[in-house]
Amino acid sequence: MAEEKKKRDGFGSKLGIIAAAAGSAIGLGNIYRFPCEVGNNGGAAFLLVYLVVVLFLGIPVMLSELVIGRRTQSNSVGAFKKLAPKSAWPIVGYMGVLCGFLIFAFYSTVSGWTLEYIVKSVSNSFQGKDLATIEQEFTAFHDMGWRNVMWQGIFIFLTGFVVFKGVQNGIEKYAKILMPLLLVILIVLGVRSMTLPGAKEGLAFLFKPDFSKITGKVLISALGQGFFSLSLGMGVLITYGSYVKKSDNLTSTAFSVVLADTAIALLAGLVIFPAAFSFGVKPEAGMGLVFNTLPMLFNQMAGGYWFCLIFFVLLAIAALTSTISLLEVLVAYLSEELHMKRQWATVVACAGTMLLGAFASLSLMSNTPFTIGGRSMFDLMDFVSSNILLPVGGVLIVIFVGWKLGKQKFFDEVTNENIIKAKLKKIIFFIVKYLAPVAIAIVFISGLIK
Ligand code: PHE
Repeated sequence: MAEEKKKRDGFGSKLGIIAAAAGSAIGLGNIYRFPCEVGNNGGAAFLLVYLVVVLFLGIPVMLSELVIGRRTQSNSVGAFKKLAPKSAWPIVGYMGVLCGFLIFAFYSTVSGWTLEYIVKSVSNSFQGKDLATIEQEFTAFHDMGWRNVMWQGIFIFLTGFVVFKGVQNGIEKYAKILMPLLLVILIVLGVRSMTLPGAKEGLAFLFKPDFSKITGKVLISALGQGFFSLSLGMGVLITYGSYVKKSDNLTSTAFSVVLADTAIALLAGLVIFPAAFSFGVKPEAGMGLVFNTLPMLFNQMAGGYWFCLIFFVLLAIAALTSTISLLEVLVAYLSEELHMKRQWATVVACAGTMLLGAFASLSLMSNTPFTIGGRSMFDLMDFVSSNILLPVGGVLIVIFVGWKLGKQKFFDEVTNENIIKAKLKKIIFFIVKYLAPVAIAIVFISGLIK
């Protein structure tokens, strides 16, 4: 017990939950995945649905997870075991662990790229190149499958090192300074991007919705992206919630994190789309949308060398605070439920991720054998985890809180046992109990049918 207490105190206790949860939420999901999804789903129409999702579903689901975590002081599987013993509910926790493992596997591929791009920026390797050359080099990099795997391995190792050493506290403290810096850099990049010739078209793409583009696929992608970006539906916030002090305000935490995360995503859109349209990068270009547009943008800026370098360093750190949260879910589960030593659990989780992750990286080579039904394993892992497991997890979590945990316990937790007001608690509980399950289910089913 004493040992467990110590373990829990070690994490983010001084610095507060907001930094840790925002660290988890803000990452490649905002800067890399969000523009890809906007681009692939018709622009503004997607953005609109996305905003509705994060505001009306994101906050209630996030709060539900935090409530479960803080109430039980347990990992995501243990939490359900405590609140609903001898029931099937712990399956939600297991699903989350599986999903965390899948996400970590493909997420670390892209995280590894940030390291490659740091090296490229140090050696000023984009300077003076045109779009075609930059695109070619990006493809050539994917074709060096093992180089991707190497960077991925280094990134997983870094994540493991932080979790192993239990220095999250230190990392989060840095993140608290560095993430606002990321915000500032994005604003500067946004201004440059929006003043490029032809930038207006990009803005129109982002903000002028064509409602006929809202299809089942768009709905489910927006739902998946919302959950992915906010780290919802798989137990990150249950796990982090379990480390939160009883005196912290959960509702304001949820609001702050959702706002910060959404602001960063929107800014990323404002950086990428005007520039992409100006340079002639197609909005459907997927990964290239970000990784090819940005170097081009830096090339058009005074001090581009430094902007490029600082940007990719910050992006790597943003990714790291997200992978830490993914690994934390796995480690908390392995150490508390399977009684592995924390350090040993870290090694096991990292090794497993490395193995699965290598397939994700190697599946992006042009002549890769790692495809299933014509889709790369990278895509498949992303699709299954983000668009299926997270929304299913999310719907089960709100049903659990709304119908099993119940109103009184929910109110107790969000008011810190009647110490704070939490004015919106009734409305949020109503959403948790009725609206969120129905909305997520409708979106999900309409997406699957298409
Ligand atoms: N939210 C993170 C991002 O946007 C990714 C993530 C998803 C982290 C799910 C943890 C759990 O980059």
